[in-house]
Amino acid sequence: MKQIKPEELKDNPFKLIDKDWMLITAEKEGRTNMMTASWGGLGVLWGKDVATVYIRESRFTKTFVDDGDFFTLCVLGEEYRKQLAYLGKASGRNEDKVAGSGLTVEHTDSSAGSVPYFKESRLVLVCKKLYAQKMDAGCFTKYGKDIPSQMYSDNDWHTIYVAEIEKVLEK
Ligand SMILES: Cc1cc2nc3c(=O)[nH]c(=O)nc-3n(C[C@H](O)[C@H](O)[C@H](O)COP(=O)(O)O)c2cc1C
Repeated sequence: MKQIKPEELKDNPFKLIDKDWMLITAEKEGRTNMMTASWGGLGVLWGKDVATVYIRESRFTKTFVDDGDFFTLCVLGEEYRKQLAYLGKASGRNEDKVAGSGLTVEHTDSSAGSVPYFKESRLVLVCKKLYAQKMDAGCFTKYGKDIPSQMYSDNDWHTIYVAEIEKVLEK
C-alpha cells in the first residue's frame, strides 16, 4: 500500500462512509476485533485532519478502542460486502471475527507502535484518539429532541470519538 496525504484522498466522504462502509479495527492484548460502521465523518478540528466515529456502548469493539490510543478505519471494495455485513452483525464477544471473515490482519507503524489493518483494504486511515465523549440526552436541540426516543430507547448510547488521521494508506 502507498502512503498518501489526507488532502490527496479522492473519495467522496459521504459515499465512502454511508455506502462503502468502514471497519473500525483495534487491538487489545494481542487480539484484533473489528466492526462495520456507516456513521462517521472526515474533516478538520483543532487544526488537525480528523475522523469522527460513533460507537454504541454494547459493541465489543468499543472495549478495544477504549483500551488503546489508536484504531484504524479500513475501507474494502464491493467484493467484500458479504464480510462487511457479517462483521456488522456478529460480535467478537461470541466468536473470532477475524477468522470468521477470512480477512488478513497486517500491521503498520504509528507514533505509538504498530496498529492492525486488513490487507484486503483499498484504503486505511490510521487514527490517533484525541477525544471521546458519550452522547448526552440533555444536549439535543429542539430539532433533535425526538432522536433519543427514536435511537436510544434501549439506552445503548453512542460515544463520539474524534481521532487525528496520522496516516493514510491507499492500494
Ligand atoms: C452497515 C452497518 C453500519 C453500522 N454502523 C455502526 C456504527 O456506526 N456504530 C455502531 O456502534 N454500530 C454500527 N453497526 C453495528 C455494529 O457493526 C454491530 O453491532 C457489530 O456486530 C458489533 O460487533 P462487535 O460486538 O464485535 O463490536 C453497523 C452495522 C452495519 C451492518
